[in-house]
Amino acid sequence: MSDLHIVVLAAGKGTRMNSAQPKVLHRVAGRPLLEHVIATARAMAPRSITVVVGHQAEALKQALPPDSNLTFVVQEPQLGTAHALLTSGTNLEGAQGTLVLLSADVPLLSTNTLKTLVNRHTSTGAAATIVTAVVDDPRGYGRIVRDPSSGEQIARIVEEKDATSREREIREINSGIYAFALEGLFDAVRSIASENAQGEYYLPDLVAIYRQSGRTVETVIVSNPDEIRGINSRSELAAVSTIVRHKKAAELMASGVTIEDPATAYIDSEVTIGADTILHPGVYIEGRTTIGSGCEIHSGARIVDSQIGDRVKVFNHCVIESARIAADATVGPFAHLRKDADVREGARVGNFVEMKNAVLGPGSKASHLAYLGDATIGAKVNIGAGTITCNFDGTTKNPTVIGDGAFIGSDSQLIAPVTIGEGAYVGSGTTIRENVPAGGLAVSAGKQRNIEGWVDKKKNKK
Ligand code: UD1
Ligand code: CA
Repeated sequence: MSDLHIVVLAAGKGTRMNSAQPKVLHRVAGRPLLEHVIATARAMAPRSITVVVGHQAEALKQALPPDSNLTFVVQEPQLGTAHALLTSGTNLEGAQGTLVLLSADVPLLSTNTLKTLVNRHTSTGAAATIVTAVVDDPRGYGRIVRDPSSGEQIARIVEEKDATSREREIREINSGIYAFALEGLFDAVRSIASENAQGEYYLPDLVAIYRQSGRTVETVIVSNPDEIRGINSRSELAAVSTIVRHKKAAELMASGVTIEDPATAYIDSEVTIGADTILHPGVYIEGRTTIGSGCEIHSGARIVDSQIGDRVKVFNHCVIESARIAADATVGPFAHLRKDADVREGARVGNFVEMKNAVLGPGSKASHLAYLGDATIGAKVNIGAGTITCNFDGTTKNPTVIGDGAFIGSDSQLIAPVTIGEGAYVGSGTTIRENVPAGGLAVSAGKQRNIEGWVDKKKNKK
């Protein structure tokens, strides 16, 4: 929309969070609050987005993906929402059309509602249009005071702290989301005073100012009040996270994913999962993870930023971060796949196996107790229990290469850099310091010695 400008208020200290971190960097479904709101703003394709930030401006800038359409202005000190909007004026000099104001602490607002807001605002030619909601529990919000003498038009907004007990009973609340005609806006905002319970410049006071001067103020009442829930405290953060999680779970279930217990499946908003995949209770699927169809993810698994193919089984209590698992592979229980672990088709990673920057080729198995780091392992390799790739020599990480069909006996140490040729065998308990040729056998232990009667002799000494 070419004459649309969006301002996002994000400068408040968030005192009620009791946090060293700015409120709007707290996460809902894996993304900072501010990022949710910026994504909604972007979807409107506005001419500009101005973010009003406060004392931790740098941290907020770092938290967002770079965008040339995004301008940050600093509000210092923070004297209230009206003062915050005035601060954004430096970036909107001479702008015309519509200004949409969003709060960075209201993350669930949908693009649809914003479109409805802008359409209503422009079609009525109002000076201001306010998104409101009728809620069961209006505590903490500004209340919408309507005027019976003017056909129940909005007369003003009163903040909870300034409201009479009668006004506190009003269940229609201010969402803090508005559309304004830019014409005359900043002059009117400048006339807002700070004589109120908090000594702040309240933007909602603009409603009474406009109404008294005969300008039109419209409202849009959202049908789903969850959309405009603001986050001021940690319990509100948790409540909003629950809403997002349930919505995500419902979408996935509608698309064919079985979620045995949606209340305990923690799935971030950007995750994708194919049909007929089954999620057991208590799974954590985070970040930009994709999971194919027909998979089964068991309780206690945590999967972050990873790509998982079709028909993969992840057994209980695996931790999988920035890894890839190809179709028909199985992992766990109790496996740890770290960055760039790459489990190929049909491979098996068993319990207490850790992989990092390592390929386990198609059909290969590492069934128990192994560390595979900086390794390239071919197809149909058997990695015995207790195998360790000794990749670190104290200064550098070195590679291990294992050819197709090789067999690594249990309790072997492969001191990298080292290559095991195709089809080679490594005897159990071997310390490999040199390359093993294809088809060869490597053993490093000396000949076994038995000392007969040793136990009895030892006892008799005492
Ligand atoms: C505000 C509204 C209230 C509404 C509620 C909806 C005011 C005075 N009240 O109350 O009517 O029901 O939102 O969620 O506007 N901010 C700044 N600079 C400041 C102060 C605030 O940028 O000086 C930002 C905050 O970071 C936040 C937003 O503005 O993103 C709202 O401020 P907040 O203090 O949370 O207002 P509420 O008390 O929730
Ligand atoms: Ca708020």
